Amino acid sequence: MPTSTRDQVRDTFSQGKPLWSRSIATPAVEFGPVTLPVLSGQLPADLRGSLYRNGAGRLQRGGQSVDHWFDGDGGILAVHFRDAEATALYRYVQTQGFQAEAAADDFLYAGYGQMAPGPFWKRWGAQPKNAANTAVLALPDKLLALWEAGNPHSLDLDTLATLGLENLGSLQPGQPYSAHPKADPHSGEIYNFGVVFGPRNYLQLYRSDASGQIYQQSQIPLPRPALVHDFVIAGAYLVFVVPPVVLSVLPILLGTKGFSDAMQWRPQYGTQIIVVDRHTLQAVSRFETDPWYQWHFGNGYQTADGTVVIDYVRYANFDTNQWLKEVVTGYPKTQVSSRLYRLRLDAIAGSVLSNEPLSDLECEFPIISPQDVGQHHQSLCFCYKSQNRNEEYFDSIGRLDPDRGQLHQVTLASGCYPVEPVYVPGPQGTGWLLTVVFDGNQDQSTLQIFSADNLAAGPVCVLALPEIIPFGFHGTWQPR
Ligand SMILES: [Fe+2]
Repeated sequence: MPTSTRDQVRDTFSQGKPLWSRSIATPAVEFGPVTLPVLSGQLPADLRGSLYRNGAGRLQRGGQSVDHWFDGDGGILAVHFRDAEATALYRYVQTQGFQAEAAADDFLYAGYGQMAPGPFWKRWGAQPKNAANTAVLALPDKLLALWEAGNPHSLDLDTLATLGLENLGSLQPGQPYSAHPKADPHSGEIYNFGVVFGPRNYLQLYRSDASGQIYQQSQIPLPRPALVHDFVIAGAYLVFVVPPVVLSVLPILLGTKGFSDAMQWRPQYGTQIIVVDRHTLQAVSRFETDPWYQWHFGNGYQTADGTVVIDYVRYANFDTNQWLKEVVTGYPKTQVSSRLYRLRLDAIAGSVLSNEPLSDLECEFPIISPQDVGQHHQSLCFCYKSQNRNEEYFDSIGRLDPDRGQLHQVTLASGCYPVEPVYVPGPQGTGWLLTVVFDGNQDQSTLQIFSADNLAAGPVCVLALPEIIPFGFHGTWQPR
């Protein structure tokens, strides 16, 4: 599509809608590799490695929109910081579903919200499209594009060429490998899980070496067909927090509902917490507490007395899923509110000690330094909405010391929106936060690098990206 036509489509889509909607109005355009021009500041001399980000790059096909933001095809941004310059490229993950739909110029598959086209009897037992759109895991010899209901896709770390589905030595075809793996910063071990629905509903747990090869698995029964998106390592444990969202499996099998619409908020069940020994992968306690919903955890750790501490972003209910569906329209109407909370557990006794807000900021995408995973973190970063602009999308980045309540923050210029920051450790305990910012005034995406110690000073370097990068989900950093 020529640039002028894309601008017209963007103008039409965003008419009467908030500026941020221009980020997702047209499909991402592949580019690069290209050296990124520096718009301001200068590249930190010690910043060497690669940033990878994943997200729904394409929400439209054949004049139609997907049903839910999570249905968009995965598109990967890579920025390689080498030899005092930054080189970027963007590629769609060449999944079998992406290629078939591109050839047909039409939606052909079911997805998270999307139902397969055609009469419902033709949808019975239809396999969803693996959208490969949620997150990335950088292994020593490959990049994984993750999607929580299937196998990961493997990509070339340098060129982003899609190499195919990846089984990590053990996964069966279609076996779920979720989008929030956690790597132990000392051993390099990688933990992850997948949710399996059926006659038995359970978490399939995976323990891998630093190369990603799975060498230990177990199954942890779930109380019901539930939605589990993320988990934490907390000292000696893996902790799963199962919200009271229940999946009606039958309408999905019959093809009468999409996955998203088949999930229902059932607060009467409460939230179930499952604590797992990270070495045996067996449950050590399981208990219920108040109902809430969370997509994401910041981190977990154990204190000297064994207390498990978990920081997470809490929603009062599952309306957030409806908001995420409506994002595709550029004009979500559902009101949602999220807050950073700290949960403290007695893992052995199986009880909640406390569960309190850490901040009154409306936030998402909590992240930490990769060096702090599973251990006491003194810094938690996130996107949030500044309190005086009434924005529907995040316009600020925060870094909170959760023990002392001290907040460092930066609010971007009006009409500018960051995605989840990625924390890059620097020398002597310093670090940078890297985020992609969409400027709705200029119709431009930039890569912005902040000193984690001084967000308020603004970015130390701003790099121009050659195309708009639609708001994405999760990223990672691979040091050189
Ligand atoms: Fe996520």
